[in-house]
Amino acid sequence: MNGLSGKTALVTGSSRGIGRAAGLKLAALGAKVIFHGVRESDNLRSAVAEAGSGATYLTADFGREEEVKKIADTVKTRGLLPDILVLNASVQSYTGLANFSTDEFLRMFLTNVASACILLHELLPEMRKKSWGRVIFVGSINGVKPASRLAVYGAAKAALMNIARTAAMENAPFGITVNTILPGVIETDRNANALTDAAFAEELRREIPMHRFGTTAECAELIAFLSSENTGYITGNEISISGGWQL
Ligand SMILES: NC(=O)c1ccc[n+]([C@@H]2O[C@H](COP(=O)([O-])OP(=O)(O)OC[C@H]3O[C@@H](n4cnc5c(N)ncnc54)[C@H](OP(=O)(O)O)[C@@H]3O)[C@@H](O)[C@H]2O)c1
Repeated sequence: MNGLSGKTALVTGSSRGIGRAAGLKLAALGAKVIFHGVRESDNLRSAVAEAGSGATYLTADFGREEEVKKIADTVKTRGLLPDILVLNASVQSYTGLANFSTDEFLRMFLTNVASACILLHELLPEMRKKSWGRVIFVGSINGVKPASRLAVYGAAKAALMNIARTAAMENAPFGITVNTILPGVIETDRNANALTDAAFAEELRREIPMHRFGTTAECAELIAFLSSENTGYITGNEISISGGWQL
């Protein structure tokens, strides 16, 4: 895999979990990484410190359109226009059809879907000028595999997959690839509570062909692969990283 020196990467939702591991991996490959979290935190500061020179962070609540636009403006005006954009941040709740709530639907679609559209709308025209770019959406197996309690979250991830394909088609002539990774169960803060239920965790492991959960490092490897110079002919795809759980 080629190094990423000279490239700038914006990784949303990178204070913790998959985003953080991806940001650190891209930094280790030489990219200047912009970490992001919803608010200032020790997590963000320590990610920047660990990533080393050139790394920085920005904060924004993606449920608020003006904050998403502000991030896009900031990277443009501070000369931090990304070559690599990892759309990873999301919110998640157990909202299905049985307990449907319009407020929660709007919160998840604004934060998870509209924010990605705004960032693409704001940044792609600038990225096109460089005739090189990598956009990686972090989707979810739930975008293709229904789960009753995650119906709204899954629908948001399915919508993102479609947006990613459109972006791939529109931006291929500009040397910009757009792909989506579909994690299964990856051990992060997000599911730490649920997985403390040993019986539930065991049942889940049995369902996954590899009988184990994934790691943030494994996701980071895939994101780094899709960010590299050598993968410029791979676009418009979804790649599961789920131990076979998509089957
Ligand atoms: N973990 C899994 O098993 C799994 C499976 C499938 C897909 N995914 C997807 O993978 C991605 C990362 O998941 P994760 O488990 O690594 O997440 P996580 O550990 O829960 O971290 C969430 C990240 O998103 C940020 N964030 C939270 N609310 C936000 C908001 N309103 N606006 C902007 N940013 C916000 C957080 O910032 P703060 O630290 O400031 O709160 C944090 O950086 C998500 O898109 C998720 O849907 C995860």
